[in-house]
Amino acid sequence: MSSYDVIVIGAGPGGYVCAIRCAQLGLTVAVVEGRATLGGTCLNIGCIPSKALLHASHMLHESHENFAKMGLNAAVTVDWPQMQAYKNDVVAQNTKGIEFLFKKNKVDWIKGWASIPAPGQVRVGAEVHAAKAIVIATGSEASVLPGVTVDEQVIVTSTGALELGAIPASVAVIGAGVIGLELGSVYARLGAKVTVIEYLDAITPGMDGEVQKTFKRMLEKQGMTFVMGAAVQGADRTEAGATVRYKLRKDDSDHALAADIVLVATGRRAFTSGLGLEGLGVQMTPRGQVTTDAHWQTSLKGLYAIGDAIAGPMLAHKAEDEGMAVAEVIAGKHGHVNYGVIPGVIYTHPEVANVGATEEQLKEQGRNYKVGKFSFMGNGRAKAQFAGDGFVKILADKDTDRILGCHIVGPQAGDLIHEVCVAMEFGASAQDLAMTCHAHPTVSEAVREAALACGDGAIHA
Ligand code: NAI
Repeated sequence: MSSYDVIVIGAGPGGYVCAIRCAQLGLTVAVVEGRATLGGTCLNIGCIPSKALLHASHMLHESHENFAKMGLNAAVTVDWPQMQAYKNDVVAQNTKGIEFLFKKNKVDWIKGWASIPAPGQVRVGAEVHAAKAIVIATGSEASVLPGVTVDEQVIVTSTGALELGAIPASVAVIGAGVIGLELGSVYARLGAKVTVIEYLDAITPGMDGEVQKTFKRMLEKQGMTFVMGAAVQGADRTEAGATVRYKLRKDDSDHALAADIVLVATGRRAFTSGLGLEGLGVQMTPRGQVTTDAHWQTSLKGLYAIGDAIAGPMLAHKAEDEGMAVAEVIAGKHGHVNYGVIPGVIYTHPEVANVGATEEQLKEQGRNYKVGKFSFMGNGRAKAQFAGDGFVKILADKDTDRILGCHIVGPQAGDLIHEVCVAMEFGASAQDLAMTCHAHPTVSEAVREAALACGDGAIHA
């Protein structure tokens, strides 16, 4: 039996970051991972491969839409096997990078699937290892609808959608959340007819209402079709592909949509089966997540949990923050995550990004707030990039001017949001942001202009 200060179960962004931080803090640490490569869902079948396909398909879109306008004449065609090879190479570089970091930080990789036979013990195959602290970082899996059988060939989750054998002529996407819109965008840009079927009346649940509307209009302009207020009842394989059956909520009428590929993107659920948590009596939430206290400790002393396996947004960076914080806690320090300042990004084109409260939430709270908004049309750099569509919207307290939230739809939104995150971490006012010099010409000037619009007014509006 080998013995460690900490054993982390799962090598996704939550688990591997936690292990590296534990090692940096002087703890002996091992990570149990059953996948052939490190990095979890994010690096292997999630964030990273999808970003490679989003980048490649965006380049194709640019070549079709904007090259000729800039005096660039080229007939760009798609070599799908090469695009897949590029994506796989990006994944391999990243997963090997984590292996290198493990060696550098002396983190042991125990290969296999873990269970917890008793407090302080982790079983992997026939071996049992001891640990003073165990961290569950087992992530999540696609949550599939009843009446839908995923085969990852024709009826696929994000996993199968990243590996299709050929570019389909049509894709039916179930769910207008982040996965549906990102992967739907990829195939729409590659030429597929993409129809998104969504239960609610707005896309991207939980986002600021104004962003939802603008973003939907932009995606429609790119050729995506939306069926809103539609409850999917099931999907059936056919000779040509599959058919999605749905009911329109407004009149309960039945409809069907045939497509080459059906992508099920209706959310994810915590993945904790096989750990033996029931046997240990570990408390779970009604949604099947591991219950934790303010220091990520479960109901069992010495057993911690982070990331998608616990409550909160299912985001790699939220898991990373929790991974670092729980390592600090285990090392006897003060780990902290500011859940009020966790950005969310959708990596479509244009990108969508948000942090803090939405206008709808502030209204619900009865908060006295003001809005500073600036359109990218007034930003020179955005116009040079054919990216004048979209806006930055900053919400600030009407009395104190403190920034409460920011919502961006437009170029590089996923990068722009971070200056607002830093400002919010420091409790900054909109005026603090407005008085900070921003280089010209950059798209970041749009953030400053939105901050100015919270006060005496934007200059270029
Ligand atoms: P989601 O929860 O974002 O969206 C699921 C959508 O499916 C919702 O709009 C819901 O109303 C709809 N839906 C559910 N049942 C339905 C039915 N029967 N008929 C029609 N529509 C139905 O889930 P998604 O997109 O699968 O993503 C899963 C998780 O992964 C999310 O928590 C997301 O934040 C995370 N993720 C984040 C990414 C990012 O940050 N860029 C990228 C990919 C995933």
